[in-house]
Amino acid sequence: MTADAAARWHGSPLTIGTSGLGDLGPDGDPLLAPTRTEVELAIGMLTSPHRLVDTSNMYARGRSEAVLGAAIRELDGLPEGTEVLSKADRDLGSGAFDRDRVWRSFEESRTRLGLERLPLYQLHDPYTVTFEQAMDGANGAVQGLVELRDQGLIELIGVAAGPSDLLARYVRTGVFDVLLSHNRYTLVDSSAGDLMQEAAERGLTVLNAAPFGGGLLANGSTNTTRYGYRDAPQELLDWVARLRQVCADHGVSTGAVALRFSMRNPAVRSTVVGISSLRRLAELDSLLAEDVPAQLWDDVAGLGAPPSTLTD
Ligand SMILES: NC(=O)c1ccc[n+]([C@@H]2O[C@H](COP(=O)([O-])OP(=O)(O)OC[C@H]3O[C@@H](n4cnc5c(N)ncnc54)[C@H](OP(=O)(O)O)[C@@H]3O)[C@@H](O)[C@H]2O)c1
Repeated sequence: MTADAAARWHGSPLTIGTSGLGDLGPDGDPLLAPTRTEVELAIGMLTSPHRLVDTSNMYARGRSEAVLGAAIRELDGLPEGTEVLSKADRDLGSGAFDRDRVWRSFEESRTRLGLERLPLYQLHDPYTVTFEQAMDGANGAVQGLVELRDQGLIELIGVAAGPSDLLARYVRTGVFDVLLSHNRYTLVDSSAGDLMQEAAERGLTVLNAAPFGGGLLANGSTNTTRYGYRDAPQELLDWVARLRQVCADHGVSTGAVALRFSMRNPAVRSTVVGISSLRRLAELDSLLAEDVPAQLWDDVAGLGAPPSTLTD
């Protein structure tokens, strides 16, 4: 089964990330009908040549899936070859994340998306339960995913989170088809590199998310002060400024280099990029078209170890 998806996703080095899709902010109502702007962005994502779209049950408190669902209905179904990947999330009220919650999460996801089956459903940020609780054979969250896969409702199961030590425990169970790691294989933090290599050798499909560290490593992003969703210390901002100078000296944009850093790792099947607007979606093509000279990688190495703030 993994081999089928692995083969399908071979031609999709980029996946469109939708954690910001439909994000109404702290006072927003996730139940409000999707706006025209949101649906048009979702249609752009679903019809882009990149074909894979990543969401989760809890992005924008369900609104990301709901907006994608509205776009899918407007398109009269998913475009040929496009796949929506989603994730199981804890109950946002109680924090419960067990077998039953995974089933409920899946029912919510497929109702919002209007899709009967999903190619991938992942255990997402399992931080409210211990590894042992999640792996509990009868009641654990992973049992719910295994049942969904056994029943053919999802094709592949994955684990998607940040801390590499935790992810390694899940990867080594042999249960998962897919690993998604975020913010830990970028120009400023490559601490997940060994785990991604191990996962690929074990036959898992590896997705690397947040190649811009949330925007800091792109050009012109609204985020210029945070890395991995935390404030970046001056030391890190100074390192990124030097990185930008190296990229400028080679005539390439930092965003193009950040994307290529992830895409050139053979263990990474697809790199998941967060897209906040149609303009950003179009800019991806320009970034991909840029030629990154081999000498640049030596010059980046010459900057010394980046002072990443992620300590897991
Ligand atoms: N635990 C998990 O499963 C997990 C965790 C993290 C991420 N993810 C997935 O990975 C995706 C990517 O993560 P992320 O969005 O947090 O980080 P990211 O991809 O590193 O950064 C995305 C941000 O970079 C900026 N950007 C994107 N393209 C740009 C361009 N061409 N030029 C300038 N700026 C650009 C955008 O910010 P502005 O447009 O606002 O400037 C965008 O919001 C998420 O959407 C999600 O699907 C999964």
